[in-house]
Amino acid sequence: MHADLIAALTAIVGEGHVLTGHATAEYATDWRQRLQGQALCVVRPGSTDEVAQVVRACAAAGVSIVPQGGNTGLVEGSVPDGSGRQVVLSLRRMHAVRAIDPDNLTITVEAGCVLQNVQALVQEAGFLFPLSLGAEGSCTLGGNLATNAGGTQVVRYGNTRDLCLGLEVVTADGQVWDGLLGLRKDNTGYDLRHLFIGSEGTLGVITAASMRMVPQPAAQLTAWTAVPSLDAANALLALAHQHLASALTGFELMNQQALALVDLHYPHLRVPLWQQGPFCVLLEASDSESEAHARTLFERLLELAMEKELVLDAVIAESVQQAHDLWHIRESITLAQAAEGVNVKHDISLPISRIPAFVAETDAALHALLPGIRLVNFGHLGDGNLHYNAQAPEDMEARAFVADHEECIGEVVYRNVHRFGGSISAEHGIGSLKREKLPHYKSPVAMQLMQRIKSALDPQNLLNPGRVLVGPRTDP
Ligand code: FAD
Ligand code: MLT
Ligand code: ZN
Repeated sequence: MHADLIAALTAIVGEGHVLTGHATAEYATDWRQRLQGQALCVVRPGSTDEVAQVVRACAAAGVSIVPQGGNTGLVEGSVPDGSGRQVVLSLRRMHAVRAIDPDNLTITVEAGCVLQNVQALVQEAGFLFPLSLGAEGSCTLGGNLATNAGGTQVVRYGNTRDLCLGLEVVTADGQVWDGLLGLRKDNTGYDLRHLFIGSEGTLGVITAASMRMVPQPAAQLTAWTAVPSLDAANALLALAHQHLASALTGFELMNQQALALVDLHYPHLRVPLWQQGPFCVLLEASDSESEAHARTLFERLLELAMEKELVLDAVIAESVQQAHDLWHIRESITLAQAAEGVNVKHDISLPISRIPAFVAETDAALHALLPGIRLVNFGHLGDGNLHYNAQAPEDMEARAFVADHEECIGEVVYRNVHRFGGSISAEHGIGSLKREKLPHYKSPVAMQLMQRIKSALDPQNLLNPGRVLVGPRTDP
């Protein structure tokens, strides 16, 4: 029967675009190297019509599908399980630009387009595509939409959801929903677009999207500061909002442990100021007037911050290259953590005002739980989103650390997140990594509504089953 399905899929997408055996390995292993699944096959359609036919063929055979973009997801949601009975539907061949409309400030592009290429296309058209994250060289727009990715410019431009005006989606029964209208206002009933964004491939396959472009700023300035405490970092954020207003584009926090790992694994990056305080903050401002205007505002902000003893020391990038180098250090933390060994990740969000107390209490509880634990705390403080990660004590083997301690570390972190009014996932989503946790932190009503939506849109449970929600479904 599976041979029949593979033959049917080959007839749809063509010889060479259905992979089996060893060729599927890279599609079946997650970025963090925690899951080694097994695919029945990987199918690589080249058009929306082919995606629809593939979905119909799988539905007819009762075989489930794992949609996949760049496979950079961090929550074990983009690779097949170990059964060898799931089809990976890779969107990477679908990267065409359908339209660029400068007057409407929109680009319509297929879901498999790599984020960095979307940014470059929009830049060529004279605009900015303001979604930026460490994985931008390999993640795809479809994956960004499916996870509602955040990144480093959310303070000013919002999450992927805020940049999306329309979607084209193949539904679980293989129909095509063309919702690619590039409208900023449309109140004709339920907004289906928002149902698919952030649904992690469980409700439909995103094949194309209309995304907002924004004007390029006249100048961008980047500063790296050492700060004496989290309270100081929060006060600096408030001051930056006050002085830079909507020009504030990024506000990233990095603790000393995070930067120590970058310094250890990538010494050539020459991390600045990391030994001068417990935290560093990377700030970015985008100015619509001029470089001189931006610099005046920025220097005034930093002077004030120093007077108030919120900043111990600071460097302002003098060139685009220097700014790029500072961002590169920030974006290297995830890689430095991976180089140090498998680790425990959290992508939590909290009311910004409660972050210092949360961190103080959670740090203390985890040090008591496992002396020597290395807490790698960094992230998008401007959005109240921390990557509150943990690395093994220096004398403990990394895989044993994860196997023996991930569960109880998670319990402490999530209990405190809940107590402080936060969310257990701000960015990366639920995947299969957090699906058992979700019902503990979301209300029963919310869980029931999500189950009903899943049942209504995917009654056969064929789209990425067991991700986000624990299967099998219970139809209420
Ligand atoms: P994949 O990993 O292939 O898939 C992710 C999920 O989306 C899966 O559930 C998959 O089934 C589903 N999916 C993928 N494509 C489609 C589609 N076309 N239709 C329907 N479902 C689909 N994330 C952030 O939010 N912010 C960050 O700052 C950030 N930084 C990162 C830095 C590094 C170094 C790495 C490795 C990851 C980072 N991530 C970050 C996580 C990851 O890059 C994002 O989640 C990204 O949006 C995933 O895109 P992808 O194309 O790789 O998706
Ligand atoms: C980032 O912001 O760099 C990633 O989302 C964080 C991570 O790897 O945990
Ligand atoms: Zn992040």
